[in-house]
This record gives sequence, C-alpha cells and structure tokens, in this order.
Amino acid sequence: MCWKVAQSPQVTQLFAAPGNPGMAELAECIPWDGNVSQLAEWADREGIELTLVGPEAPLVEGIADAFEARGLKIFGPVQKAAMIEGSKAFAKDLMARFGIPTARHKTFSDVLDALSYLETTGAPIVVKDSGLAAGKGVTVATSLHQAKQAAANILSGPERAEIVIEEYLSGPEVTVLAVTDGITIVPLLPSQDHKRLLEGDTGPMTGGMGAICPYPLPPGVLTEIVERILKPLVEGLRAEGIVYRGVIYAGLMLTDEGPKVLEFNARFGDPECQAILPLLKTDLLELALAAVEGRLHEQRLEWHPLASACVVMAAPGYPDDPHKGLPLSLPPAPPERVLYFQAGTRRGPEGLLTHGGRVLSVVGLGEDLPGALERAYAGVAAVRFEHALYRRDIGRKVSLAKAASRGGETDQPKA
Ligand code: AMP
Ligand code: GLY
Repeated sequence: MCWKVAQSPQVTQLFAAPGNPGMAELAECIPWDGNVSQLAEWADREGIELTLVGPEAPLVEGIADAFEARGLKIFGPVQKAAMIEGSKAFAKDLMARFGIPTARHKTFSDVLDALSYLETTGAPIVVKDSGLAAGKGVTVATSLHQAKQAAANILSGPERAEIVIEEYLSGPEVTVLAVTDGITIVPLLPSQDHKRLLEGDTGPMTGGMGAICPYPLPPGVLTEIVERILKPLVEGLRAEGIVYRGVIYAGLMLTDEGPKVLEFNARFGDPECQAILPLLKTDLLELALAAVEGRLHEQRLEWHPLASACVVMAAPGYPDDPHKGLPLSLPPAPPERVLYFQAGTRRGPEGLLTHGGRVLSVVGLGEDLPGALERAYAGVAAVRFEHALYRRDIGRKVSLAKAASRGGETDQPKA
C-alpha cells in the first residue's frame, strides 16, 4: 500500500507507522506501539490529510472512529463494521441475516457443548477461533479427534473464547477484494492465496504463503459475487446504521452450489495486496479519497494487462516459532519485472535481519501467469536468505488447469 500510494502525484509527504526498512525507503517512519488514540492525536497535530490502514488490529480497536471523531480522513471501516473480521461469530450471524451464502455453522463458548456437538457432526469439519488469530485460528479437521482437540485448545484457555464450528466445503478458493464508500462497490481483480505452509496445500495454516492475480474466474461469477455477497453485506450493514468505508475482503470457496463465503476481512489481504496493487493503474490515493468522501461512483478502475505472482519468504520456524535476527539481503537493483515488499524485517548494524514470521514478498509480473511465476522465482533466487521457507508451487494449479484448457479439455480453472 505504501509503495502504491507513494506513486501518487498528490502525495506531498508520506509517513508510515510504525513502518519497516522497506517502507523507510518511501516514507518517513514514525514509532507507534498500536495505540489508536495516540496516533489520531499525532495525525491531528501534524495535519495529516488522509490515513490508510493496513492491518486488522487497529481497525478492530477503533482507529477509524478515533480519527473520524477528530474530523480526520481515514480509509478503513469503523469498529462496528470491522467486526466482520474481528468476530467470526458476528460475521456468520450477519451472513445468516442478510442471506449471504456461507457454510452452515454453530457458535460455542462452552467446551463440553462444543465437544458433544462435534460427536453429532463427525469429520471432516471446520473449527474456527472466533477472534483475531492472524490467519492461523482455523482447523480443517479430517478426524473427530482433531476437531475436538482444536475446540478444546481454544475454549479451555484462560481468556473468554468463542468458536465457530462449520460445515466443510470443497472447491477452489478465491479472494475478491472490493473498495466501498458504503454505497458504491468497486471490486478489484480476483486473486488466489495459498494458505498452507507446504507444497501441495499441506502443512499448517499460515497467514498466506503466496498469491496470484488475476485468478481466472468462470464467466459471470464476479458479478454473482458482487450481487449475492458484497451488495447484501454493504446494504445490510447500512440498514443497521453501519456505513462501511474501506476495503472488504471476501475469502470464498467456489463450491458446486456457487460461491460461498469462508471469511470476511476488513482490509486488503496479505499477500493478495502485493499481487493485486502492482496491476492497478488507477491512483490508490485517489481511489481511497473517493471512498472516504463518498464519491466512489465517480471512479473507474484501470488495470495493466499483465499477470502477477507473489511468493512469500518466511523465517524458519514459521508459523509457530519464527527465528528472528537471521541475516537477509536483497540485490541492489531488483531483477527485471520483480518487486520486493518487506514484511517482518528490521535493519541491524550489518544489514537487514528477519524480525517476524513472513519476512518478504517477492512479486513477479508477466504477460501471463507462467511468465509472472518465472519472474517471481527469479526474484526469489536473487535473495540471500538462508533456510528461508517458501513454496515452489505457487500458482501451479491454475497454470496447469490453463495449460490443460488450451488443449481443449476444460475452459474452467480446476483446483
Ligand atoms: P478462514 O480464515 O476462515 O478463511 O479460514 C482459513 C482457511 O481454512 C481457508 O482459506 C480455507 O482454506 C480453510 N477453510 C475455512 N473454512 C472452511 C470450510 N468451511 N470448509 C473447508 N475449508 C475451510
Ligand atoms: N491472506 C489472507 C489474509 O490476509 O487474511
């Protein structure tokens, strides 16, 4: 987001809070511990004209409310609207009320109730932590034992917890992001994340290990997603007095019965954002301002006619216990059609060091998906980062399905 906003001719000064060494090349980084009212006070003092929010935690803390209370412009939903991400139980209730297609579910806060319910469902079944879990709170259980363990783990902790148990769905997954001002909905290009740590979609859930854009949705499906999912959400919230301004993230499963919602987030996805924004020609600052000022109907998006692929390089030990402080170095100039976006990094005396789970996103651009993947992996090869974890099969399912379709076997992506 910082990289894209920095390209806007309207920017006079750009700050990132707290930022990282990658953002420090584009913006002035200011220290920030996550306190939303402190940041609002700072922005007020500095006369910041527009703030864009990246992650979910400050949204769920009410950063948009704190800024709006001071008359400051902020691109991101208010706390009540951000609850579509902050509480899966809340999101599932909304979907039921607004008739949005999603997996059947039940919510539990009592462990014994949850365990006896699981006896009736059997496996496969999906157990989700209702609260924020950095994309790691979901267990797709293939056995009853695994489901019970996941439920017990979340519900027997010291804090008050809640889980959602939901029906197992199957099909290809796709992410559709949309910008909205609470009335107009502007969908971005569809993308696809890779949630599992290991190749072949195995291993533990992560925040996301790579993404491709655009994901080739079958004809008519994007319109169906807007009409049956995004519109009912935005209009339903508005009818309840909640105006959603910002980005809506719909994580979807393309089931035999049509697209169904796996989750909503209140922000750009990570790593979907890194794959989508390099394809966007339109000025992101202009788009965000139009959303904040309620004039999104004036906006038409323009896209570069390219494909992109993002490969995430994570620290060894991710997602449970990532190693911090490992050296990493990027080539002085990125290879052609490669972009590096830093995530969990910090600058040490000798150079860059790992400082979190997902360390770096490497994005490749190409005329088509195979070309984009070739550039992304050339970008990965040019990074020095020993023992980095990354998947070598990002985008492979879609590339193979497309290759097969050119042979005339299918005209739909298979996954
Ligand atoms: P979520 O954070 O809710 O999107 O879940 C993380 C991942 O778990 C998704 O990207 C899916 O791969 C998987 N998942 C979530 N819900 C279901 C479901 N009902 N059926 C099958 N897989 C699911
Ligand atoms: N890539 C999934 C997420 O941002 O939640």
